[in-house]
Amino acid sequence: MAILDVLIHPNPKLRKISKKINKIDDEMLQFLDNLTETMYEKDGVGLAAPQVGVLKRVVVIDISDPETESRNPIIFINPEILKSAGSVIIEEGCLSVPKIYEEVERFEKVTVKAYDKNMKEFTIDANEMLSVAIQHEIDHLNGKLFIDKLSSLKYSRITQKMIKYKKKLEDKKKKKNVKKKKRR
Ligand code: NI
Repeated sequence: MAILDVLIHPNPKLRKISKKINKIDDEMLQFLDNLTETMYEKDGVGLAAPQVGVLKRVVVIDISDPETESRNPIIFINPEILKSAGSVIIEEGCLSVPKIYEEVERFEKVTVKAYDKNMKEFTIDANEMLSVAIQHEIDHLNGKLFIDKLSSLKYSRITQKMIKYKKKLEDKKKKKNVKKKKRR
């Protein structure tokens, strides 16, 4: 298993429409394991393939509480919202927009159709946390981020913050590489 690099906003890959998956081969199964492991490593409740640069319609979600419950990852391949109802405002975060938490409005309940690892179709009636997580992750497959729902002022402030954050990360990496060279 491997931990994958999570892309950080702004990144053009986060804005692309992901493609449907037609078959699950060994390579895809390995990828799904890596995607799931990466979500846990980064303490996320969900992760979509495009967030690690893979433009395919698959997401993993686990809303169980790590302190009191055992892991329960659900993989959604080619997820589609069939029905939606009501509205809720919940604070959201995203591994591609680290350390930013903002309230956004979502449907309260959704019925989702998707395929599992065996390409078996299933449907889930989700509400509250799971419903919001599903909507957030499906948005990723369509090139959308939760911060798109904020005012344009907030959006641009967050984007500037992320640009600075990414620069800091890159500088850190460069410093590490210099140290490595010196060691040799
Ligand atoms: Ni996200």
